[in-house]
Amino acid sequence: MKWGLIGCGVIGERRAAALPEGVKLVSCYDPVAARTEKISQLTEAQIAKNEDEVFKTEGLTAVVIAAINSSLVGLIQKAVDRGLHVLVEKPAARSHSELSTLNPKKSVIKVGFNHRFHPAFYDLVNEIKNNPDDPIMFIRAQYGNGARVGFDREWRSNVEIAGGGELLDQGVHVLDLASVLLPDMKVITGYCKTHYWDMKVDDNSWAILADKSGATFTFHVSSSEWKNEFRFEVYTRKRKYQWLGLGRSYGPEKLHIYKMKPEMGPPDYEERSYPGDDLSWKNENTQFQQAVLGKAPPYGGFQDALKCLGFVEDIYEKSKALQGNTNHPLWWRQP
Ligand SMILES: NC(=O)c1ccc[n+]([C@@H]2O[C@H](COP(=O)([O-])OP(=O)(O)OC[C@H]3O[C@@H](n4cnc5c(N)ncnc54)[C@H](O)[C@@H]3O)[C@@H](O)[C@H]2O)c1
Repeated sequence: MKWGLIGCGVIGERRAAALPEGVKLVSCYDPVAARTEKISQLTEAQIAKNEDEVFKTEGLTAVVIAAINSSLVGLIQKAVDRGLHVLVEKPAARSHSELSTLNPKKSVIKVGFNHRFHPAFYDLVNEIKNNPDDPIMFIRAQYGNGARVGFDREWRSNVEIAGGGELLDQGVHVLDLASVLLPDMKVITGYCKTHYWDMKVDDNSWAILADKSGATFTFHVSSSEWKNEFRFEVYTRKRKYQWLGLGRSYGPEKLHIYKMKPEMGPPDYEERSYPGDDLSWKNENTQFQQAVLGKAPPYGGFQDALKCLGFVEDIYEKSKALQGNTNHPLWWRQP
């Protein structure tokens, strides 16, 4: 199966380095020549002069789109119009309304929610599924990145290009993970601030969501976390599941399972570790390949992205309603 790649930055390269068996990257495009050259050396893909040249590549089945957020919807639509299947990086658009303009036609659209493909999350989902008599009470997540000089001058800190701040960037991952476990959540409230960076988008956001049963999801995402951190905790009536780390700078990936005893007191404890490389990119690329072959629906697709972007919009709006116009962080198309 022949794939193309549009956007050859950090994530484009990560995708290109994790191609599944049976897939060949044949064409790539990025406005920065050094980036396409690197991808070409890695994969032997031809370097295209522009995105259209990638789309027109002979025998192409699918494209991976890992460019800046403001270009995503236009690129997806062009690919779909040519009958190509698409794996597009999260958040897939700058806003819910922008993604709603897309006509997916008959193409498979997989959205890059690679966190779903971490082994700790597989195990967590299976544990919840295999214990139907033990429902979720609440989920709590913390996700944040450390800092790099000039972060507030990067494209992801520009409202026109990124569409929002930390809530849109890392927030969509935790919203997506929680949606897998609590599919009927609604936003209760949100609070978005720009505490540290010299930018108009949020660098710290908090929110509470809940479903009809009252099962609750709370999270905080931060781009002034100082030390990269990921934790995702699910509390059921009898257990606590604590997923820590994503590998690399986020620390070793682990799942702690605490099981309450009927007599309560200190719980039984099990720790699962997932050392080695971060396989989430390869696992997700492979799932996309399977979806294109018609063997499975995309796990994390267009509707899931729409849902997460709907949450994001709702959280920004509720936060602004709480704080008023003064100094509220901006998000895309906010008057
Ligand atoms: N799944 C994840 O965990 C994860 C993590 C980081 C970023 N992302 C997403 O991946 C995408 C890329 O982010 P990144 O961190 O790789 O950023 P990056 O800045 O490293 O790369 C973006 C690349 O897009 C290129 N580009 C800009 N306009 C383009 C266009 N019109 N056509 C083709 N290429 C274009 C830039 O030159 C750059 O090389 C974003 O949508 C981001 O939200 C996902």
